[in-house]
Amino acid sequence: MSSFVVAIDGPAGSGKSSTARAVAQALGFSYLDTGALYRAMTWWMLNHGINVDDAEQVTAGASQPVIELSTSPQSVVVVVDGVDVSAAIRQPQVADAVSAVSKVPQVRTRLVDLQRDLISRGAIVVEGRDIGTVVAPNADVKIFLTATPAARAQRRNLDFGHSADEVKATQAALERRDLIDSTRDVSPLVKAEDAVEVDTSDLSLEEVVVAVLAVVDSKRSVKG
Ligand code: DC
Repeated sequence: MSSFVVAIDGPAGSGKSSTARAVAQALGFSYLDTGALYRAMTWWMLNHGINVDDAEQVTAGASQPVIELSTSPQSVVVVVDGVDVSAAIRQPQVADAVSAVSKVPQVRTRLVDLQRDLISRGAIVVEGRDIGTVVAPNADVKIFLTATPAARAQRRNLDFGHSADEVKATQAALERRDLIDSTRDVSPLVKAEDAVEVDTSDLSLEEVVVAVLAVVDSKRSVKG
C-alpha cells in the first residue's frame, strides 16, 4: 500500500490508543504504538537493575536491548531480547519509570530511528507524543487529542477495572507523567502547529473515531 501517515499525539488517557487502533482498523492501515517502545526500553532497564533516574546509566543501556514490535491494530506484541513483554510493559512499575527513561536523548534517538523504519513501510496510524512534531513532521494527517485530567483518570480506571476511590491517585500519577513528558528538553509533548485538536472529554470512542476519520477523508481526497 502506498505511504499515508496518520499521526495521533496527546497525553496519557486522552483516548489515543483506542482511537488509533480503531482508525487503523477502519482504514485497513498498520498501527504503531510508539509508547510501547518506550515501555519496552524501560522494562529492559528495570530488568537489568538500572537506576532510571541516573541518565548516565540509562544512556549506557540505551543501545543494548533488541526490541521488536508488531504493527497490527488487532494486537500489540512487544518482544525484548526474545522475551514477550506485551503484558509486562503495562505494569505500574514500568508506567512509573517510563517518563524518566523517555527523556534521555540516546533513548529517543534510537527509538525514533526504529519508528521511522516501521513508518516507511506503508500506510500507517502512529500514536505517541512527538509524532507530528519530530518523528513524522510530514505526516499526511496530524491529530492532537486532549481531555481534562479528571476525564483521563476516569478512563484509565475503567480500563483497569479500578474502583472509584482510586481515581484520585490515578489522576495524580497521570499529571506527574504529563509534567515530565511536556517539560523535557528533547521532543516534549506539544501540539504540532498544523495538528487538528480534538477534545475527547465528552465524546464517546465512536464519536472521536468518526471525527478523526473525517479529517483523514478530507486529506485523502486532497492527496488523491
Ligand atoms: O502512550 P503510553 O502511555 O504507552 O506512553 C508511555 C510513555 O512513553 C509516556 O509517558 C512518554 C513516553 N512516550 C514518549 O516519550 N514519546 C512517544 N512518542 C510515546 C511515548
